[in-house]
Amino acid sequence: MQKILVLDFGGQYSKLIARRVRELGVYSEILSFKTPIETIKENNYHGIIFSGGPSSVYEDNAPTVDKKIFELSVPIFGICYGAQLMAQLLGGEVAKSTVKEYGNTQIELTKNLSPILKKIKSPNTVWMSHTDYISKVPEGFIITSTTKDCPVASMGHLTKNFFALQFHPEVTNTKHGQAMIKAFLYDICKCSKTWKTASFTTTAIDEIKEKVGDKKVLCALSGGVDSSVAAILVSKAIGDNLTCVFVDHGLLRKNEADDIERIFSKELGLNLICVDAKKRFLSKLKGVTDPEKKRKIIGREFIKVFEIEAKKLKGIDYLVQGTIYPDIIESGAGPSALIKSHHNVGGLPKNHQFKEIIEPLRNLFKDEVRNVGRGLKIPDMIIDRQPFPGPGLGVRIIGKITDKKIALLQEADHIFTEEIRLAGLHSKINQYFAVLTDMRSVGVMGDARTYFYTVGLRAVVTSDFMTATWAEIPNEVLARVSTRIVNEVEGVNRVVYDITNKPPATIEWL
Ligand code: XMP
Repeated sequence: MQKILVLDFGGQYSKLIARRVRELGVYSEILSFKTPIETIKENNYHGIIFSGGPSSVYEDNAPTVDKKIFELSVPIFGICYGAQLMAQLLGGEVAKSTVKEYGNTQIELTKNLSPILKKIKSPNTVWMSHTDYISKVPEGFIITSTTKDCPVASMGHLTKNFFALQFHPEVTNTKHGQAMIKAFLYDICKCSKTWKTASFTTTAIDEIKEKVGDKKVLCALSGGVDSSVAAILVSKAIGDNLTCVFVDHGLLRKNEADDIERIFSKELGLNLICVDAKKRFLSKLKGVTDPEKKRKIIGREFIKVFEIEAKKLKGIDYLVQGTIYPDIIESGAGPSALIKSHHNVGGLPKNHQFKEIIEPLRNLFKDEVRNVGRGLKIPDMIIDRQPFPGPGLGVRIIGKITDKKIALLQEADHIFTEEIRLAGLHSKINQYFAVLTDMRSVGVMGDARTYFYTVGLRAVVTSDFMTATWAEIPNEVLARVSTRIVNEVEGVNRVVYDITNKPPATIEWL
């Protein structure tokens, strides 16, 4: 299959570049700038894109790449930092400006026609975010556009097929960015449309059949999008030889365990074992208030329960995991401050008993996983699901976790999610849920005094969940949710709406 490499210099948009390439029908993968040149050569890429990055080419230890990359006879497309690096490595000059050019900017095309910009008119809106700029292009390059603050907004070497843009074609603010990437892929790299999730599905099913044969496979199913699609894909390949294990830790949303059982076992016909481990989890969590301790306990117990179940099922060779491409890229990222120890259902015990792990979705982005799922006729209820943290309501109950508090939060959350759907807001908000605070306050109901809990409502708009903005839900919807929660959920007399972005807050409260 034809492949495009996105060489990552630490830019925040590297993943977005790779997604844009795939949206245009060409497979792409991201590798660190540290990848040895031999590996890049062996992979026979049709084209290479240098990503942006936060550094300046003049900084000590600035990310760079072996100059031999320019001798591979592969077209190269530099974006922002990648453009500056290309200029510097090939003998041009990069200068430091005193002003940062940031945001929407107009480019003017020069009379030197660029094959990358051939479909766009001058002037045109692009998205800039840089301080350094290319002050002199390397030998053989032509300047193909400028802005009022930037003498080289784009440049190209027409015979060697090296092109560079100071701006970001991958963000939607660059009006014709996708056309520029398309020109690089199809006109310069001579790619053809070879990446489609439908063909992915057929190939993946064949590969799983080939690998597994008539052996038995286990899958830890959380009911989330990734593990569900992975499970169904594998079941299409090997049928009854797949067994799924779903662990109910007692911290699920209202009706969740029943829904999972109904959908996967009855509707989709999978072999499903639902393990009721509520007592085990809740006894371990008794009296625990520290958020990280809660997360660790739930993570550890989850693996223990899963191991016990796996041991009961004799003769299992393979384990399926719903790992997706962003998980792979992120686990390779450098050390960053630990904010929360995330754990996913399906996290693997260290000394596992399996011959091999199968991760059929390891090369896919989330939206591609959803497409595969739709193609496999998995119900929308599963495909359109929001992320739900592995530790579940355990990280949505502040303070001690009790049966009563879980029941109360399940009800409040159910009302909130129901009203959001009824208001037609489900597809406009990326994640929404209720939180149970540990705070009680005085209220009056009928003529009686109450001293009940406060429920927090959280709803955010985000594309990557790394940053998020609180959602502007219409007042009448909030009013309805508040009235219903206080009227219908015994033990709650106050509802608050969280109007904090991430950062400084996180999406979950714990
Ligand atoms: P935060 O709270 O870190 O959440 O802003 C970002 C996203 O991650 C989800 N989340 C988790 N997902 N295991 C998961 O699989 C976890 O332990 C976990 N903790 C948070 C959260 O719901 C949000 O979508």
